[in-house]
Amino acid sequence: MKYRQLGSSDLRVSEIALGSWLTYGGGVDSDTARACVRQAFDCGINFIDTANVYAHGAAEEFLGATLSDYPRKDYILATKLYFPMSQTDSGLSAQQIHKQIDASLTRLRTDYVDLYQCHRYDHDTPLAETMQALTEVVDAGKARYVGFSEWGPEQIGAALDIPDVVRFVSSQPQYSMLWRDPEREVMPLCAASGISQIVWSPLAQGVLTGKYRPGAPLPADSRAVNPAMNDFMDRAKDDKLLSAVQQLQAIADDLDISMAQLALAWVLRQANVSSAIIGASRPDQVTDNAGASGRHLDAHAIARIDNVLAPYVRS
Ligand SMILES: NC(=O)c1ccc[n+]([C@@H]2O[C@H](COP(=O)([O-])OP(=O)(O)OC[C@H]3O[C@@H](n4cnc5c(N)ncnc54)[C@H](OP(=O)(O)O)[C@@H]3O)[C@@H](O)[C@H]2O)c1
Repeated sequence: MKYRQLGSSDLRVSEIALGSWLTYGGGVDSDTARACVRQAFDCGINFIDTANVYAHGAAEEFLGATLSDYPRKDYILATKLYFPMSQTDSGLSAQQIHKQIDASLTRLRTDYVDLYQCHRYDHDTPLAETMQALTEVVDAGKARYVGFSEWGPEQIGAALDIPDVVRFVSSQPQYSMLWRDPEREVMPLCAASGISQIVWSPLAQGVLTGKYRPGAPLPADSRAVNPAMNDFMDRAKDDKLLSAVQQLQAIADDLDISMAQLALAWVLRQANVSSAIIGASRPDQVTDNAGASGRHLDAHAIARIDNVLAPYVRS
């Protein structure tokens, strides 16, 4: 496993991070989930991403219980706030930031998180109030660094312009061969501002692994057939897209890597991406995905990928 600096922080995160949306505390049983975490450590993954809202706190609770088996210094832990935890608990007000960090730390059974992220931008709270409260959380030692997820360039720029508050070190956007929006504005701005990308759904929720085949039934053990996890799985039923994805197999074969590794190496080709946050429903997926670290894609392979996927890319 290779490691990269996270923005202007002193954190060195594994190129592959383990996420917990839908899976841990949710659609994946706890024995399997624990085995995935163990496998992640065995593969050199040191970076774990969660959020208060994942499985409504149960993902953090699972990680708190599971990670208590490992020395705290051995992993870098990131969580988030913003989405509703109750009818009256949501957003990025000072009151919510102080309340939600304490609740997350309790569930995670730790005194601090390494990275505290704003899960979305809060249009109902003055940005200065959010940044001041995040500063207080860092000053109190409850979070080492702060980041955001899916903020636009104007919002990022406005935060950077506020004096005497903590600086963001990470941005968490969706980014994959199929979803390239961040390349246009967010990545250049962040690269110039000491902010790294830690990208979500780099496998397009498994679609880029090639396991969904055009005209074939959805795999019985996949997220797409699991009612606890399949809310956003339209791409797994798009036969034209799935046919194009199948053409990536030849490119992966020529490089002697799996299709998952091809997709992950593709996002990691960007210097501003510090880590690809994968989901894993089984330990063997962790192993496969971790194998992407250090794989280099040359210009020819990247051009072949673009040629195959051009009609399906969102950019
Ligand atoms: N900030 C945000 O708004 C946001 C949003 C979404 C996610 N995230 C973060 O990003 C993380 C990753 O998101 P994601 O779960 O959508 O990522 P993903 O890595 O694109 O998809 C993960 C799923 O793909 C399948 N898979 C993974 N590796 C595979 C392999 N090698 N071969 C075959 N299938 C494989 C598994 O599903 P099966 O059950 O089908 O096997 C797995 O649960 C989340 O856990 C979360 O931490 C953040």
